[in-house]
Amino acid sequence: MSTHAIEAVGLVKRYGEKAALDGVSFEVPRGTVCGLLGPNGAGKTTAVRILTTLAKADEGTATVAGLDVAANAREVRARIGLAAQDATVDQLLTGRENLIMIGELHHLGRAIATARADELLEQFSLTDAGGRLAKTYSGGMRRRLDLAATLVARPEVLFLDEPTTGLDPRARNELWDVLDTLVGEGTTILLTTQYLEEADRLADDIVVVDHGRVIARGDARALKQQVGGAQLFATPSNAADLERVAGMVGTITGCEPGIDAASRLVHASTDGGPHVVARLADALADARIAVDDIGLRQPTLDDVFLTLTGAPVADDESVEVAR
Ligand SMILES: Nc1ncnc2c1ncn2[C@@H]1O[C@H](COP(=O)(O)OP(=O)(O)OP(=O)(O)O)[C@@H](O)[C@H]1O
Ligand SMILES: [Mg+2]
Repeated sequence: MSTHAIEAVGLVKRYGEKAALDGVSFEVPRGTVCGLLGPNGAGKTTAVRILTTLAKADEGTATVAGLDVAANAREVRARIGLAAQDATVDQLLTGRENLIMIGELHHLGRAIATARADELLEQFSLTDAGGRLAKTYSGGMRRRLDLAATLVARPEVLFLDEPTTGLDPRARNELWDVLDTLVGEGTTILLTTQYLEEADRLADDIVVVDHGRVIARGDARALKQQVGGAQLFATPSNAADLERVAGMVGTITGCEPGIDAASRLVHASTDGGPHVVARLADALADARIAVDDIGLRQPTLDDVFLTLTGAPVADDESVEVAR
């Protein structure tokens, strides 16, 4: 049996003239988390739909849990969970009823389905809201219920399409913790995200997609290094200090510093950790130079795209029109 939980080879999906996927290949080893990272319209949802048997590829093949998604759709579905980008829970049932119903659909039997529902409500901080109709939930609560629903049958491969979009920072952190637990239990996860930070936090391996193509691959560290790592920056209080601060930043990072006179910003790439900030702060204090701001900025998806494609992340407006 394949050691890969997911294997996609040359996937192509066309909508009219447009190729939503234009030859996408990647594989996800069992028990790992893969982050499919890309801007609006990149093809993330299309890839997830093909891998979860909801859409058919025009070209290429894919296996999930060792099974061909086109030939063995039903068996694939029995082994996976999908939290789609749009909530799919029944609005006219309570959160608890939704989860129990799904358990019964999976033939768990009423008693076990109920126990599993209560366990998941607890895990997702929804115990108090469990008795309320899902339509009264906030966006973040609905998102959590959606995720709980995908876990009822303990799937071996989990697909999460932008799982944290719309969640507040606390809910996002809670969700990340839940995903850690699942991975610890051996679940393989493919998640899509527009945030490098999220892919960085969760994924062992990141596949960057743009216009239906894989444009980069690697762990977060490798991707960040490709874009020149993090940026050490400082904003001296007086413009007269710009050159001296630039000298310090250059010495500490070993990289040519950039100076933006208009915003009084000095910056340079660094692969050093937060200690470079401490070194700069010490040097500034020794020289009695006052700063308004100092820090380390991690690269964003924007930086990755700027480096890899030479263009910033562009919103694909046809996405909204097409839906
Ligand atoms: N059913 C469809 N009919 C026509 N075009 C589609 C359809 N589904 C997707 N597309 C097009 O395929 C491309 C990829 O869409 P997809 O939804 O996979 O992107 P995405 O990466 O998930 O974007 P987002 O971050 O906005 O969710 C887009 O240009 C979109 O307009
Ligand atoms: Mg999408």
